[in-house]
Amino acid sequence: MQMNISRHQISDIVQQALKEGLVREEDTAILFQDLGYLKSRISDLISLFPPDTLHGLAIKTNPLAKILEFTRSLGVGAEAATVGEINLSLQAGFSPDKIVFDSPVKTISDLQFALKKGIHLNCDNLSELKRVNILLKEVDSSSTIGIRINPQVGFGTILESSVAGDYSKFGVPIQTNRNELTEAFLTYPWLTGVHLHVGSQGCSVEMLVEGVGILYDFALEINEQRTANGEQPITIFDIGGGLPVSYRYDHDPPRMENYVEALKVRAPGLFGGKEAWRHGGMEMNKRTSGQEDKWGLITEFGRWVFVNSGFTISRVEYVKRDPGINTAMIHVGADLFVRECLNPTDWMHEYSVLDKEGNLKEGKDEHPYNLAGPLCFAGDIVAKHVILPKVEEGDYIIIHDTGGYTFSMWSRYNSRQTPRILGIRDGVFSVLKERESFEEIARFWT
Ligand SMILES: Cc1ncc(COP(=O)(O)O)c(C=O)c1O
Repeated sequence: MQMNISRHQISDIVQQALKEGLVREEDTAILFQDLGYLKSRISDLISLFPPDTLHGLAIKTNPLAKILEFTRSLGVGAEAATVGEINLSLQAGFSPDKIVFDSPVKTISDLQFALKKGIHLNCDNLSELKRVNILLKEVDSSSTIGIRINPQVGFGTILESSVAGDYSKFGVPIQTNRNELTEAFLTYPWLTGVHLHVGSQGCSVEMLVEGVGILYDFALEINEQRTANGEQPITIFDIGGGLPVSYRYDHDPPRMENYVEALKVRAPGLFGGKEAWRHGGMEMNKRTSGQEDKWGLITEFGRWVFVNSGFTISRVEYVKRDPGINTAMIHVGADLFVRECLNPTDWMHEYSVLDKEGNLKEGKDEHPYNLAGPLCFAGDIVAKHVILPKVEEGDYIIIHDTGGYTFSMWSRYNSRQTPRILGIRDGVFSVLKERESFEEIARFWT
């Protein structure tokens, strides 16, 4: 499967948008989202996991209402990191049983809200379990409940998005808290899920698989004890997200199919119904309920689903030509690319140039360029020393692979208008979000 939308495909899409008048004079920058591509990613995901897996796509990756409505229509669920995100998913029509709520700082009212709605809850820590235990005596809830466990498999290549090192602000570390976790599972019969998330981008498939493996072994051990006591076993296994994508055309990213194959080897029960309670070749005690022994698998992918399905263009307002470096002054900076500006070593994209008609400029008269944004600080440079063909005023810079963790991280600094966002599917454009008006900006600050 092709992983990135190619420069030539992007050029065709932009030419069409220009011809259709969708890039207006005021649209100094536009985000595009290829909905056909997004759909193919989601179909791949669904086909690779067992059919009843709940794919809670991470809302933080791309929370546009029209995108949430689109993904809901494809049968997936949503992972919410805040009550704000839960509300977005409910408004987009997700039923509560398709929503997963993970937040490390849930208040009592957040917990009450999720429990009343019947949303799957992943508790972050042992204190939260105590709160939930009290609340369950007051609230009649159909929620299933798990706990986030840090498998402590180490840091990936990007520290700021690695959450399974020895220390993490998320979850309960398994090495130091194994006894406390075991006690919790033996104390709270309603606690029937385990949850992990190793990191986002920069974590190898081996790390992701080992994280799942550590929790799998632990869950089997707990289930042995719980079923021996006649109690319900852990049945919900939430593997989180974290499969990296390629932002560079010379990097081959890991494939979802390889990740799933490796998971099947390390944690076979998650993919095989009755295998679930087999441990060390011995079949364990059967559940007292008499139901088929089966794990409820949850995933929370974001980046892998969304990032490669989108790109951004910005008109070049000016070009400054200095000895050794040119600077293209563009209309998106740290407002849209906060990570790229503040931590350019870890976060980067491919960049290309289109002329004002959308034709791809290739290979002629190449120079290093800084791509500088419009904001009032020196660090507002999306990328430095990018080798590009001659860039001129009125051209468009393409920033590739911006379908996730881009617009969702928009910063209000300097009160720039958020750009128009266009969807494209089968050659037909739709406006996913209109360019922000000055009235909307004023409302934000009022
Ligand atoms: C708890 C949790 N689940 C899922 C995700 C999505 O990760 P990714 O977009 O890398 O798949 C994140 C992202 O940080 C997360 O924190």
